[in-house]
Amino acid sequence: LEKVEVQIFPDLKAGSLAIAKTIASLIREKQKLKQKCVLGLATGSSPKTLYAELVRMHKEEKLSFKNVVTFNLDEYYPISKEAIQSYNRFMKTHLFDHVDINPKNIHIPDGEVKKEDIKAACSAYEQLIEKAGGIDLQILGIGNNGHIGFNEPGSGIYTKTRLINLDNSTRIANSYEFANISEVPRMAVTMGISTILKSKQIILMAWGAGKAKAVKAAVEEDETEHVPASLLQSHANVTFIVDEPAASELT
Ligand code: F6R
Repeated sequence: LEKVEVQIFPDLKAGSLAIAKTIASLIREKQKLKQKCVLGLATGSSPKTLYAELVRMHKEEKLSFKNVVTFNLDEYYPISKEAIQSYNRFMKTHLFDHVDINPKNIHIPDGEVKKEDIKAACSAYEQLIEKAGGIDLQILGIGNNGHIGFNEPGSGIYTKTRLINLDNSTRIANSYEFANISEVPRMAVTMGISTILKSKQIILMAWGAGKAKAVKAAVEEDETEHVPASLLQSHANVTFIVDEPAASELT
């Protein structure tokens, strides 16, 4: 039995369009109230179609991002912002270069910061989120191992933005972006579970049969740090948007 709301779509395109509509409505609602809309954003393969749809809505349906403030979940460490594999670059390529967002409103963890400055950078990131009034809507993907952001198994509910070691399974899953596995960074900076749980609303997307086990564990089994996405069960406003293959293990 599902412990959080799950919406099943025939394919990732249909699911992505549904998420884009939710985001667009929130942006427009906040515009009417003359308020900022604070979005938490993910990278990776899962949100590409979602971002393409938001770009289309900007170009064809006058969806403006002028009132949008964004905080990305994570970034590899160390990595240059210009590297094709960096999430800073990913966000430009897939979204920010194609919409009218104010660059000052974009926040992504910095993979270039010196090691001795990381702690300060992480707490500054937390403070920026708070100063922005908190995240209105956090978009998440899910790792094969159940991670959210780069909160690998073992990450607890009190974790904040911090430097983490990537699981080997995550490095393997993401190695397609790199020339070979040894090029995949061993660390990342990620929002913590507590950072994510403070968002007012959370949407997690999962596409494909490869995610079916993680989705099942996250929504049907007990909350456990071994499956970080299961820790979302304690949140009052979370929806899993999945395609049929990702839902295939649900009872
Ligand atoms: C990326 C992130 C990760 C991914 C997850 C799934 O910003 O936070 O948790 O969402 O690793 O990645 P894909 O979508 O590539 O399967």
